[in-house]
Amino acid sequence: MTADTEAATPELEEHFQRTIDRDQRIEPRDWMPEGYRKTLIRQVAQHAHSEIIGMQPEGNWITRAPSLRRKAILLAKVQDEAGHGLYLYSAAETLGADRADLTRKLIEGRQKYSSIFNYPTLSFADVGVIGWLVDGAAICNQVPLCRSSYGPYARGMVRICKEESFHQRQGYELLMTMMRRGTEAQRRMVQDATDRWWWPSLMMFGPPDHDSPNTAQSMAWKVKRHTNDELRQRFVDMTVPQAEALGVTLPDPELAWNPERGHYDFGEIDWDEFKRVVSGDGPCNAQRVAQRRRAHDDGAWVRGAATAYAAKHSDTSHDHRGSQGL
Ligand SMILES: [Fe+2]
Ligand SMILES: [Fe+2]
Repeated sequence: MTADTEAATPELEEHFQRTIDRDQRIEPRDWMPEGYRKTLIRQVAQHAHSEIIGMQPEGNWITRAPSLRRKAILLAKVQDEAGHGLYLYSAAETLGADRADLTRKLIEGRQKYSSIFNYPTLSFADVGVIGWLVDGAAICNQVPLCRSSYGPYARGMVRICKEESFHQRQGYELLMTMMRRGTEAQRRMVQDATDRWWWPSLMMFGPPDHDSPNTAQSMAWKVKRHTNDELRQRFVDMTVPQAEALGVTLPDPELAWNPERGHYDFGEIDWDEFKRVVSGDGPCNAQRVAQRRRAHDDGAWVRGAATAYAAKHSDTSHDHRGSQGL
C-alpha cells in the first residue's frame, strides 16, 4: 500500500510536524497521523456535500428567473457549485476516502452539510441574498483555507474562492438592481429575504469557540487558520457597510459599532435553532436529502454505463494502459 498506511515512527511524526511548522504542504504521498486524515476527510466531505446540496435552494428558481440574463447567471452559478463539489470529493479521495461511500453517508443522513441549505427560498430576492450573504460567508470561511496545510484541499480552494467571489457579486448586483430600480414591492422582497437569511448566515461559521471542541486541534494542524468566532466577526464587519449601501436593515437591534473593540457588536445567536437544523430538524432537511437520494437513484444507469464502458475500454486497449489516469 501507499506510504499513508505506514505505522507511525518518531521520524515520520517529526517530519510531519516540521512540514506543518514551516507552513509547507502535506501531500497525499506523505505520512500523516490518522487523526489528521480523519479530521480532513470529515471536513472536506462535509464541504463537498454542502456544495452539492447547496445547488437545490437556488436551483428551485432557475425555471422562474425573471429574464434570460438572470437565468443564465443563475444556471452558471448553480453549475459552479456542482464543480466545487467535484473538486472536493476528489480532494477527499486523495485521503483514501471513497466517493460512493461519502455519497451513501450523505443520503443516509450519516454525514452533515452546512445548516444554511435547510432553509427555503421563498422569492427571487432570495437568490440575491444567498449570493450576498451565504456566498459572502462562504468566502470568509474559505479564503483562509487556501492556506490549509493539506495540499489538494488548499489548491482546490483557490479556484473555488475565485468562483465564490463571482457568486457574491452577482447576488449583490441583483439586490442593488432591485433596490435602486425596482418597485416598492421588490424592495420589500429584498428586506424580507435579508430578515430571513441574516441569522442563518451567521450560524454558517459554526458553534461559538467555547463550544467547538475540534477547533484547537484543527488550528494546531493548520487545517483551520482562524476560529469560528473570529471569522463570524470578520463577516459582520464586512457586511454591515454593504447593507447600508444597499439600503436594507439587518434584523438585529443590538448591532452597533464598538469603537473600543474596533468591531461591530451583535446580538446573541439562537444556538438551539442551529443545533436543531444541523441535526436534521430544519425546515427543509428531509426534502433536501430526499431530493439528493432521488437524483442518485435516477443516475444509477449513468454510473452503470460509465463503469461498463470503462471495463470494456480497459479490456480492449491494453496498449493504452498508461493513459488511463490511474
Ligand atoms: Fe461553492
Ligand atoms: Fe457559491
